[in-house]
Amino acid sequence: MASEKTFRDLFLDEVRDLYDAEKQLTKALPKLAKAAASHELRTAIASHLEETRTHVARLETIFGLLGAQVSGRHCAGIAGIIEEANDLLQDDLDDAALDAGIVAAAQRAEHYEISAYGSLIAWAQTLERGDIAETLNETLDDERAADEALSSLAEGGLNDQAAASWREDEHEEAAGDRPISETVGSEGSPSDRRPHR
Ligand SMILES: [Fe+2]
Ligand SMILES: [Fe+2]
Repeated sequence: MASEKTFRDLFLDEVRDLYDAEKQLTKALPKLAKAAASHELRTAIASHLEETRTHVARLETIFGLLGAQVSGRHCAGIAGIIEEANDLLQDDLDDAALDAGIVAAAQRAEHYEISAYGSLIAWAQTLERGDIAETLNETLDDERAADEALSSLAEGGLNDQAAASWREDEHEEAAGDRPISETVGSEGSPSDRRPHR
């Protein structure tokens, strides 16, 4: 029983997990920013990248407050989210659809972080470590603001643009189908499949 890990170990493991997650994000966000077609989206991701570097530094402060060595532990959760984001970038999407997808991928990462920081803050408060809770809360504020900024971009135009490209696509498909259906039962060769005017 004496070798059982304690709540302190769990707390520290979660900090190490988040430390690794933030570091993974400092490598993944530049790829997402580079792939974004929208200037505003690129700027939003780039500015959150700068904040993310601050988050890494803040967690190093937390290790100090805990009297522990700075170290990471592989965060499989954020690794999975990043893997899906990378798949999206390979998907050969049109610009508008890609931007909508990048927002969704980035928001998944933010929600993961919001959840992780939220739990750690609640634990720090329970342990009456206001100093740790306060430092974690500064990052949580950034994560929430980043999430809201992404929602504003999506709802302020990116989703509409993606939907417009979908409608255009449907329209083109419908226009392309018409001659085929008009020639059903006729002797026309494929090259004759143009609407009669
Ligand atoms: Fe972060
Ligand atoms: Fe974040």
